[in-house]
Amino acid sequence: MYKNPGKTVLIGKKILALPECESTNSLMVSLSQNKTLDEGTVIITENQTKGRGQAGNKWVSEPGANITFSILLKPTFLEPSNQFYLNIAVGLGLCHAISDSIDDKVWLKWPNDIMVNSKKVCGVLIENQIQGQTLSQSIVGIGLNLNQTNFDWPMATSLRILAGREFDKVKIFETILVRLEAYYNLLLKRKFSKLKEEYYSVLYWKGEKRQFETKGESMKGIITGVDEVGKLMVDVEGEIRSYNFKEIKFIG
Ligand code: BTN
Repeated sequence: MYKNPGKTVLIGKKILALPECESTNSLMVSLSQNKTLDEGTVIITENQTKGRGQAGNKWVSEPGANITFSILLKPTFLEPSNQFYLNIAVGLGLCHAISDSIDDKVWLKWPNDIMVNSKKVCGVLIENQIQGQTLSQSIVGIGLNLNQTNFDWPMATSLRILAGREFDKVKIFETILVRLEAYYNLLLKRKFSKLKEEYYSVLYWKGEKRQFETKGESMKGIITGVDEVGKLMVDVEGEIRSYNFKEIKFIG
């Protein structure tokens, strides 16, 4: 069902479509260890039995309803210190692909959850491999909630819930590949300021006084952006503090 749409030159040139696997990210890791895979190779499945999310969480997705896939990238042109720009490029590509399908505004919640109407519609798990001073390989895993209508987690939504209609998986998948390739090309051209400027234009809660939790304590702050290594910067009573993932929780 999924095949190379012929609309991209790198991402999705080779597609391995499977009815089921444990996790497309895990499978890409093991396949890439055993043989040299071409950059842009995609593994997509209808059902993950051990889907993985960020920070060791599980990624649960109804079989057949959604899009779950991984892309192998080799961003050797990017210094490891600039690796957060890959998160930005992937997040923006997804934001655009999703905006192409629905009317509501699409936001990127740091680091790269895709949010619509304050609910998460898509998650991204990027696993980088660094060799010496080079970002030798990145496995970009994407889970997009497409046609699922019931979730155990109240903060989750899907394109179907948002738009009130069913979506064609293959069409959306192809749109995603095209949008991701466009942003990957910007990264190749090292358009860092353009990428950051666009990221800021869709950064969830940026510039708003909001409630967060750090080290078990509640505090109010205003997101001002991300620093060069991708930490979230928050203005807390005039002092800019920066946080790693898991060091800060978004409350409301
Ligand atoms: C998150 O938001 O926590 C990240 C979710 C990433 C899920 C995708 S689904 C395809 C790929 N394979 C996995 O095991 N995880 C990613």
